[in-house]
Amino acid sequence: MRTNILHIGAGELNYEIRNIVMVGERLQKMGVPVNWENIGDPVAKGEEVPQWMKDIVAEVVQEDGAYAYSPTKGVVATREYIAAETNRLGGAQIDAEDVIFFNGLGDAISKVFGFLKRTARVVVPTPSYTTHSSAEAAHAGAEPVTYILDPNHLWYPDLEDIENHIKYNPAVAGILVINPDNPTGAVYPADVLRAIVDICEKNDLFLICDEIYQNMTYNGTTSVPLCTVIGDKVPALCMRGISKEMPWPGARCGWIEVYNGHRDPMFECYVQSIVNAKMLEVCSTTLPQMVFPRIKQHPLYPEYLRQRVERYERYSNIAYDTLKNVKGMLVNRANGAFYMSAAFEEGLLNHRQTLEIRDDRVRAIVEELVDGPEVEPDKRFVYYLLAATGICVVPLSSFATELHGFRITLLEKDEKRFRAIFNTIAESIQRYLCSA
Ligand SMILES: Cc1ncc(COP(=O)(O)O)c(C=O)c1O
Repeated sequence: MRTNILHIGAGELNYEIRNIVMVGERLQKMGVPVNWENIGDPVAKGEEVPQWMKDIVAEVVQEDGAYAYSPTKGVVATREYIAAETNRLGGAQIDAEDVIFFNGLGDAISKVFGFLKRTARVVVPTPSYTTHSSAEAAHAGAEPVTYILDPNHLWYPDLEDIENHIKYNPAVAGILVINPDNPTGAVYPADVLRAIVDICEKNDLFLICDEIYQNMTYNGTTSVPLCTVIGDKVPALCMRGISKEMPWPGARCGWIEVYNGHRDPMFECYVQSIVNAKMLEVCSTTLPQMVFPRIKQHPLYPEYLRQRVERYERYSNIAYDTLKNVKGMLVNRANGAFYMSAAFEEGLLNHRQTLEIRDDRVRAIVEELVDGPEVEPDKRFVYYLLAATGICVVPLSSFATELHGFRITLLEKDEKRFRAIFNTIAESIQRYLCSA
């Protein structure tokens, strides 16, 4: 190329949640029976979409409007419904103009960070859901600025660490919170969220809160919606969507609610630039937006969601009880979403540890993949686990963290198989750690 065509952030875009699929598929072709525990798609993991939901979709498909463009911000009636639901919670009051639809939160995230001034940074959690941390890093062309989620304290945000980042890095303009969290499954208490809002207020920052798992909490926890604690000063973007809850990830449908959007002229301009970017694409997909309120208001919806959440609660406890006593592991019980992260205690992993892989061809592939000191030690563990047992999880180090471990989903529906998977992981960890 006569001129450099690479974007400054090109090197920051890496999505191990899907990268590992390529390795899994390669091994699958060689006869390794793979259990996909890596990706947060309930439908792909066997969640049956209820007939009444399919009937609603089939009904809406009969309406010509479902084939038309929608307004840039989204279907008006749906935005009005969402605004009314938020207002019912009694906190920040919004109207339909404060609701902006996107083609999934993935689209929202890339615009929110993509249209932020390059030198302005949003401090993101570590570990962090990669789509956020990579998009933020790519916009800046630099590594993400991260605050700690503490595995020794239920994966809660380290407030002092957040304050230090703000104090010593004047480029920080905002804070990202994911609550309930992916990849840790943590649900933050109201006072933690309030403290973060206070930090924003004190330092003139904006807040982004990803609440895609808002209604999926268990073990006696509830996730406090940002709108109920944001007050009337801090400008904020709250992200929600239908991928996990409905569940309809293939619809690519999510939205942003803007709180206190008129408090700060620069923030207002920034939000308008995001809307303008959407305008260049005309709008987001119409059909799921039309479907959403009808599904949410269906009399069977609460019970449908309750049953799923109850299963995640049961499975989070099975997972926790199986891994909590494994020597060398830091494990917290997931209380929300459908993931759990387990971290190895520092210094336990090395580049000599292995698991027995009987098939020579499979072993050769894994040895090649983990060859070299630059390969993160938890990636090495994850590849060996995959090849030796067929269990596919994601290395924790790929979630913008220096911790080593893995993230696993709680989505496997068959309880017997779920228990077997966790027992196998527990045994494999012990064998792996003792192997060298
Ligand atoms: C915290 C979080 N935010 C956003 C997304 C992406 O959602 P969408 O399917 O709407 O792009 C995910 C998907 O796993 C997620 O875990």
